[in-house]
Amino acid sequence: MDDLNKPILTGTAATDYERYLRTDELLALQKSPAEVVHRDEHLFQTVHQSSELWLKLACLEFEQATAFVSADAVAGAVRLLRRATDCMDLLIAQIHMLEHISPGDYARVRTALGHGAGFDSPGFRRVHQISPLAGAAFDALLARRSVVLMDVYRRGYELDDLYQLAEQLLTWDERTILWRFHHLKVVERIIGGNVIGTQGTPVEVLGKRIDVRFFPALWAVRDEISRQSPLGADGHGSR
Ligand code: HEM
Repeated sequence: MDDLNKPILTGTAATDYERYLRTDELLALQKSPAEVVHRDEHLFQTVHQSSELWLKLACLEFEQATAFVSADAVAGAVRLLRRATDCMDLLIAQIHMLEHISPGDYARVRTALGHGAGFDSPGFRRVHQISPLAGAAFDALLARRSVVLMDVYRRGYELDDLYQLAEQLLTWDERTILWRFHHLKVVERIIGGNVIGTQGTPVEVLGKRIDVRFFPALWAVRDEISRQSPLGADGHGSR
């Protein structure tokens, strides 16, 4: 009988668990205690590196969802978009771990960062690249089905596949906006709201960028529904 404790996967680590997950390489990607300028670099690196991993997964799922939309496989797209938005929720939850770092200690951590800034996050760059592509795939799907967005929301059925897809795309947009909001509050708590970042961007600019929207039509359709409602028509339901 095979010895189940013996590794069978390729690699040099002692066990298949470590070989499969490549834990030797993974756990060598952080600075050692001897290398850090302040011990809170461990927390800082853990949050950032794990954020990049979750973003990588979110984008992978999101891109496959977009391919499903283009192939008229809407149920599959909705399923994967749900995963992608849940990844974004994990990012929102974990960014608050950074509030365990005191402003004074972070001033030390910051000296190790060079000109590194979140604008260069590969994960968030990809989010910005792929989100408009999903919007275009959704518009093309509506055109193939000969419906406009308002038709989808007028029907509004919970079982309508286009409605489900539209709502899931909106959730992605909303969660990304919410992440930016949480990020800003964490930044204000740690370095303040009236200073500049490691790449020279004033923190105030982050506040102005919070509400970047990937799918403006999905937000606007709500305005339209309110305007067309009986309350909207007599001027009480809309501005
Ligand atoms: C100690 C915690 C953090 C601080 C003090 C901080 C600070 C900042 C500042 C000041 C900026 C403006 C750019 C600049 O530096 O000049 C920025 C941008 C950004 N940061 Fe952070 N950040 C923190 C954590 C994170 C984390 C965990 C992520 C996740 C990957 C992240 C991702 C980003 C992104 C994507 C931007 C660009 C935002 C946009 O496009 O509007 N940051 N951050």
